[in-house]
Amino acid sequence: MKRLLLMAVAAIAFSVSAYAAAIIPQPQSLSEHNNDFVIKSSTSLVCAEAELAPLVDYLREYIDVKSVVKVAPKRNYIAIVVDKSLAEEEYALTVSRDAVKITAGGYGGAFNGVQTLFQLLPSAVYTKHLRLPAEVEGCDVKDKPKFAYRGFMLDVARTFMEKENVLRYIDYISYHKINKLHWHLCDNQGWRVEIKSHPDLAKKGGFRGGDSPVRASLGKWNEKYGGYYTQDEIREVVAYAAVRNVEVIPEIDLPGHSETLLRIYPQMLCNYENKKLHRNGNYDSRNVVCATKESNYTILEEILSEVCALFPSKFFHIGGDEVDMSQWKKCPECSAWLKNNGYTDGYKLEDMFIGRVQAILAKYGKNPSVWNEAAFGGGLSKKALVHGWKSAQVCKQVMMKGYRTIFMPQEFFYLDMRQSKHETGAVWGGCFDVRKTYSFDFAKEGFTPEEVATVEGFEAPYWSEVFLSQGGDKSIDFIEFMTFPRLCALAEHGWGKNGGGEWEEFHHRLYSHHYDRMVDMGINFRITPSEVKYANGLLSVEKVDNAVIYYREDGSDKVFRYKGAIRTEQPGKYLFWAEHRGAKTPDMVHPSRYNTLKPKVTLTSSVPENPKYGYSRASGYDTNMRTARTCQKGDWFLFEFDEPVECRSIEFASGNAAVPSSLIPVGYLEVSEDGKSFERVADLVSGAAKLENPRPIKAARIVVEAPYLGNTAITLRSPIIYPKW
Ligand code: ACM
Ligand code: ZN
Repeated sequence: MKRLLLMAVAAIAFSVSAYAAAIIPQPQSLSEHNNDFVIKSSTSLVCAEAELAPLVDYLREYIDVKSVVKVAPKRNYIAIVVDKSLAEEEYALTVSRDAVKITAGGYGGAFNGVQTLFQLLPSAVYTKHLRLPAEVEGCDVKDKPKFAYRGFMLDVARTFMEKENVLRYIDYISYHKINKLHWHLCDNQGWRVEIKSHPDLAKKGGFRGGDSPVRASLGKWNEKYGGYYTQDEIREVVAYAAVRNVEVIPEIDLPGHSETLLRIYPQMLCNYENKKLHRNGNYDSRNVVCATKESNYTILEEILSEVCALFPSKFFHIGGDEVDMSQWKKCPECSAWLKNNGYTDGYKLEDMFIGRVQAILAKYGKNPSVWNEAAFGGGLSKKALVHGWKSAQVCKQVMMKGYRTIFMPQEFFYLDMRQSKHETGAVWGGCFDVRKTYSFDFAKEGFTPEEVATVEGFEAPYWSEVFLSQGGDKSIDFIEFMTFPRLCALAEHGWGKNGGGEWEEFHHRLYSHHYDRMVDMGINFRITPSEVKYANGLLSVEKVDNAVIYYREDGSDKVFRYKGAIRTEQPGKYLFWAEHRGAKTPDMVHPSRYNTLKPKVTLTSSVPENPKYGYSRASGYDTNMRTARTCQKGDWFLFEFDEPVECRSIEFASGNAAVPSSLIPVGYLEVSEDGKSFERVADLVSGAAKLENPRPIKAARIVVEAPYLGNTAITLRSPIIYPKW
């Protein structure tokens, strides 16, 4: 009953369509009044503080006020002043008929105040073409973040992202008062930062495929692609971020995840013959730096000292995650070190390694930041920041050890995870959308308020393995679709909205105003879809936010606007989606659309099978098959049906969604109606080929065109066969 009452009150509040009530992240205190301020082109910007000069220029990019003065006129001005009695990121914003005043503890608070001002204006402010005069909604705000660290991690190692797109992302996060960019610059798949003392690292390690020595484990092999940032570009990004109150924390992931580094400098590998070379090209894919070679620390210092100089941040992320300890155990020197010190646990050696690198960083004035695995050895400095990614419980263990801890449990915050069952995305860390991200609740995770008070902050990463599989110019849009609005929820957590508050209230803030803001920010965000229902012959879709619902029937390009339930015997035949100013939901369909046929099928191949995941599993339809070796040009996989299969679509696919390296990167599909003569019908894209309305298929053959150098085995999937309507 109480809940119902609350909902009713909330509904009334929602109906007052005020910008102020829909600010994201929600301010700590806000009171609305009727004294709106009108910004005209004659409005003055008042700022006397030299330290705020970059912010003044920034503000004028968005709001075209002509005069900037140091002393306030009587009225008609926007003033930004610093009051050192406030915390650095704290601010107060007051609106009256005469003026808007932002009083802030420092640059960060002033920037936060400016962002709140933007959200009190029409969303066109984000296009930098706000028409003046424009009304600022009357309200008074007192605000500060609960957590000092509100971060987003961008992985440009798996997939290189042009500098312009990184700058764009800095805009996106800073609009949400997210103040840290954790920049994952290096990993097995690429080295993205110019190192002048070791130029090959970026010049060679920034590219893969083709003639590159870097045989990274993901992606295509027949073309060379990639990129890196020059030191000047890095400085440009750092400076751009600083204006936007974003601190950039670089990451060089060590001692694991270092395949690129080790392809360029094999002398840094452990000292044993690797018998597990890839068959093609004698490819050595070891990725752990030898911890006991003294010369490695000399090279690392040369590299890290250059990177330290590029980033003003006090923190430098040195990785520490997912170290394959078997490489150290096979190394005579590393295993001797463990034995001589009375250890069997490889983490003790990782601790020694982290300690050495930490000492290097200290020489250059930096504290380490690490993934949670590196926090348990005992040697990590208490000045370190620890990124807790495994789970909230692991974060707690890290905190109990006295470390400043960033919360990013994967099942809430890993933004490369798919958002619903049939959408693209990684699968290993869960399947969740913005609602789940918003629902993170310290109390439900077993934290006391005292414990919460010691949390450093939140972060959400975008790991780009999945991005890689999208390809094409649209990819950047895909990252946006994956990250927003889940990052809006992260911003709210960082601001202290623990427990996610009421989803309905946040959701309303999103669609009533923030969707428009995100459109004007230029973000290709995901609109939360609603359910498609079918009962008594009627197919219906629930309202989707403030979006317009459209649909079309399979087999027709004609698009209709959805106005009410549709009478049909074939509920799965309809494809719905909703749009708001170009932003979209994913497809919304009745679950029966995913009903498939499962005819008996026989899989044979020129490649021997892995007996544990044998080809006879093909008729099981819900398991994968694996090869016993990687593929070579000309290898084939033949699927034969007992009877010709008639269907509306059929997909043949290689690769496991969680391991993109297990697909066939370049190849084609042939089909046969009689099982004897074959016709080439499609090229593989991301390891798969889908045929719409094919002729009856008795057999289909995947043919490998380019050898796959990056992996030891290929995964095959049973065909996905959708029946004719
Ligand atoms: C991680 O996801 N390996 C930090
Ligand atoms: Zn070693």
